Amino acid sequence: MSERMTVLVTGGAGYIGSHMVLALLDAGHTPVIIDDFSTGHEKLVPSGVPLFRGNVGDSALVAEICDSHKIDAVAHFAASIVVPESVADPLKYYVNNTVNTTRFIAACVDAGIKRFVFSSTAAVYGNQDVSPINEGANTQPENPYGSSKLMSEMVLRDSAAATDLSYVILRYFNVAGADPQGRSGQLSQPATHLIKIAVEAAIGKRAAMQVYGTDYPTPDGTCIRDYIHVSDLIAAHMAALSYLQKGGASLLANCGYGHGASVRDVLDVVASVAGKPLDVTDAPRRPGDAAVLVADSTKLRSALGWAPRYDDLRQIVSDALAWERNNS
Ligand SMILES: NC(=O)c1ccc[n+]([C@@H]2O[C@H](COP(=O)([O-])OP(=O)(O)OC[C@H]3O[C@@H](n4cnc5c(N)ncnc54)[C@H](O)[C@@H]3O)[C@@H](O)[C@H]2O)c1
Repeated sequence: MSERMTVLVTGGAGYIGSHMVLALLDAGHTPVIIDDFSTGHEKLVPSGVPLFRGNVGDSALVAEICDSHKIDAVAHFAASIVVPESVADPLKYYVNNTVNTTRFIAACVDAGIKRFVFSSTAAVYGNQDVSPINEGANTQPENPYGSSKLMSEMVLRDSAAATDLSYVILRYFNVAGADPQGRSGQLSQPATHLIKIAVEAAIGKRAAMQVYGTDYPTPDGTCIRDYIHVSDLIAAHMAALSYLQKGGASLLANCGYGHGASVRDVLDVVASVAGKPLDVTDAPRRPGDAAVLVADSTKLRSALGWAPRYDDLRQIVSDALAWERNNS
């Protein structure tokens, strides 16, 4: 990237946001974090990075940060992200993801921010008949989490159309792994992501684990997902910032590799990398789980010039396992 930027990273004390902070520091930019620590961890914040404890929906705080730190761009990760919780407590998700994000976008527009990168999700697609899924697919979220993020996308799109704000919306598929240098990784408890659960089982942090659904119409009967290494995902964010800095028009792109792995594939790789078998039992399907979710990432590659460095399930699992061993 050419010019140095000061970038406000919301949710910078969380799993993915903390990797963004590291990438910005590595590239010579200046990150500034806002996080309310609802699921974030101080341990994930590198020393010396300006940190504001607070809610992205606090307009006065966001105005003060943008003014005092001369923010050039925003990477908005802050959200609540647990799908079953969103079904049990939808209002938490609509308030935190949609209402607070709307307030945040308004404060950014008021502060004259012109570049905005937004963390969205494949959950906006819901169940689709085609695979891989491209950005032209209908959005039909199956749960309040996906709906809350889709509404935030709409607020951002419409706000940008009426102002000089430009955005890149990135729809992540399944994010996994940890910083290859071991500086950050997933700390969320209880774990809700397959690879995190499997590496916990591999190091004896949990006794056993379950495979939900073994009768899907896939080669081995288990669900297939497109797992993307968190560092490759962050590279897409860095490319998005660079693109916006050069005056690129607002765009929306999927983030994934374009191929998937089944639950059994993942468990085999975890057992192989960890060097021990996992204690796994089969369980019924969970409602709402699609059989296959794989990204068509053509647009990410062509529009942003993104190319993955870690497109290898063994690498993803090795990095997740190393992080788990060193931080459990
Ligand atoms: N992890 C995935 O596989 C995945 C997949 C698709 C999309 N995403 C998106 O990526 C983003 C980051 O997810 P993550 O996995 O790092 O989750 P995370 O829970 O580790 O991080 C979220 C961070 O945001 C903070 N936060 C939440 N609400 C806030 C608010 N109102 N104000 C300030 N801070 C707030 C939390 O304290 C936490 O540090 C989310 O927007 C999520 O929807 C994640």
